[in-house]
Amino acid sequence: MRILSGIQPSGTPHIGNYVGAMKQWASSQNAEAFYCVVDLHALTLQIDPATLREQTIDWVAWLLATGLDPEVCTLFIQSHVPYHAQMAWLLENVTTFGELSRMTQFKEKAQRQEGYRVGLFTYPVLMAADILLYDAREVPVGDDQRQHIELAREIAERFNNRFGETFTMPVGVQPTVGARIMDLQEPTRKMSKSVSSPMGSIYLRDDPKEIEKKIKKAVTDTDGEVRFDWETKPGLSNLLELFASLSGEKPEAIAARYSRYGDLKKDLAALVVESLVPIGARYRALRADPAALAAIVERGARKAAAVSGPVYRRAAEAMGLF
Ligand code: TYM
Repeated sequence: MRILSGIQPSGTPHIGNYVGAMKQWASSQNAEAFYCVVDLHALTLQIDPATLREQTIDWVAWLLATGLDPEVCTLFIQSHVPYHAQMAWLLENVTTFGELSRMTQFKEKAQRQEGYRVGLFTYPVLMAADILLYDAREVPVGDDQRQHIELAREIAERFNNRFGETFTMPVGVQPTVGARIMDLQEPTRKMSKSVSSPMGSIYLRDDPKEIEKKIKKAVTDTDGEVRFDWETKPGLSNLLELFASLSGEKPEAIAARYSRYGDLKKDLAALVVESLVPIGARYRALRADPAALAAIVERGARKAAAVSGPVYRRAAEAMGLF
């Protein structure tokens, strides 16, 4: 099954990225799976150049630590494959200003950036290019990327209607639990690399003490009943959802086992620690050998270009480029 997904090398990975995306990537990897660290997308965040460079290779290490195997799938850095930016330009000419103006993430991010740049606005077109360049059928992502994938589908359909059958129609795939992990301090807002406070997010690099403290202090409610109910108990439901995504059970079944919030939090903290400790150890070992990481993404870029180059040329020819 041809798969593509991407992740921005901003900040450091949190547990929402892990259960919403990285864990899914590892379990669905195969010879036809392409995963990229989208450094071109991260430029829209106005990151300091040295930080961007450092974080890009850091995210490569985290993706390997969470289970990607470069012998099985293809892992690469987006900017190493020139077709992404080239394809984005082609697709900008089949996307309307109105469509991009309706993107929720754009509207939210634009509010937080003063004098935001054009790249923030056209960001979803670059994401559509990422997906369509690989003839991806499935795009494993968290819930917050649904609207962007819908747009990629609309662009593909419009392109195919206007210029002839060129692109494969992709579908977004969300995990059944953990597609939208919320901020531990503000459970009505998603856990986010750019917005959440350190106490609101569990980072993959957190040590056991930090994890225990954050879960213990996670905002719940005062009615005292352990029940999975997003409407009235968002904080507790978020903890149950996180628990379920790590244990493979149903959130309702976990809720049924507990009568006290404190016990649930204690067991959840132990489960998170148990899940993250081996990942952290693998990350540190991988990060200690930057040359090996560079070799993996170099090979990945070659494999990615071999697949996306012909698709780019197909699209360019269809549009009439000589
Ligand atoms: P990004 O880098 O913000 O997030 C990476 C992945 O993590 C998921 N995610 C979450 N899942 C559950 N709970 C959360 N709180 C949470 N926060 C983030 C995201 O849904 C995503 O799957 N535009 C994309 C990157 C991208 C991309 C692509 C994705 C660029 N090109 C092509 C798929 C296909 C983004 O900014 O993700």
